[in-house]
Amino acid sequence: RTRIFSGVKPTGHLTLGNYLGALRGWADEDQHRADALFCVVDLHALTVEHDPARVRRLSRQAATLLLAVGLDPRLCTVFVQSHVDEHTRLAYLMECTASDGEMRRMIQYKEKAERERVRGGSVRLSLLTYPALMAADILAYGTGEVPVGEDQAQHVELTRDLAVRFNQRYGQTFVVPKATVPKVAARVMDLQEPTSKMGKSHARTSGIVYLLDEPDVVRKKVMRAVTDTGSDVVYDRAERPGVANLLDILAACGAGEPAELAGEYDSYGALKKDTAEAVVELLRPVRERHAELVKDPEYVDSVLRDGAGRARAIARPRVDAAYRAVGLMPAV
Ligand code: TYM
Repeated sequence: RTRIFSGVKPTGHLTLGNYLGALRGWADEDQHRADALFCVVDLHALTVEHDPARVRRLSRQAATLLLAVGLDPRLCTVFVQSHVDEHTRLAYLMECTASDGEMRRMIQYKEKAERERVRGGSVRLSLLTYPALMAADILAYGTGEVPVGEDQAQHVELTRDLAVRFNQRYGQTFVVPKATVPKVAARVMDLQEPTSKMGKSHARTSGIVYLLDEPDVVRKKVMRAVTDTGSDVVYDRAERPGVANLLDILAACGAGEPAELAGEYDSYGALKKDTAEAVVELLRPVRERHAELVKDPEYVDSVLRDGAGRARAIARPRVDAAYRAVGLMPAV
């Protein structure tokens, strides 16, 4: 069976972008068709300034949401990255495989490092080496497919390069993975700033729909979405990014193809109204299941404990083999 691995970073409340770009596919398709692991990648949350209590809270919330969107621990493995030491063990070997130049070329590094500098802050070294840890996350499990949103495709490409290089240098050790990106809504845009990605750690929240937003909050955010000049509804991502984003979201909610949907509307208002209701209905069951799961933290704990055990058992032999392959002496 194909091995699937993917993860979500607890740096903020999870968004509609996370759901449409990744989580929904994990729950509706991936867990059913493959041997899948899904991970709250908490170590990755430490690459930027963070509040320890908040990361702890968001990690638990993210884990709970993974179950709320429908991941079933009988079908797949759900766990927290820092509970499985193999990730950091292998990340070091990935740092010894990658060059600093290829790390610096990562778009996300460039953007985030720039943001830190503008704020007058310093850039954590781990922000640069982030893709080495991400490669380790993926390669430790012999992963064949990595279901992600479009913004993560570059990191998965780098992971492929590192896997190939490692195998060439030290002998066949890793499976070379590939990214899979959803057909619609692979890049959900911010409702207030439709030329940038809807990101969970953006400061302004009015353009971000969070999975746990109340229906009225969702409606308000969608109804206030920035649209474009002109009033005819056409699907044009470059020229009409605001309207195209709403069409993408509506299409992803199951209403059809974005370009065809455009023809069904003659006003932005009607498009927004239908999109708002579609999103409210899409998120309703997630919010309801989350509310139930929050009442049972012991259940969530037991899933994560069990998940970490399974993950460790899968990762351990391959990471041990990688340690031997690079020439590290076995413990005596
Ligand atoms: P993260 O936490 O930023 O996002 C989790 C998943 O959601 C997708 N996503 C989006 N998809 C569509 N539109 C958006 N606006 C949007 N925003 C986020 C992301 O592409 C991702 O699939 N580096 C990763 C976490 C990670 C990981 C891994 C993923 C760490 N190790 C190994 C896969 C495999 C990240 O920051 O995702």
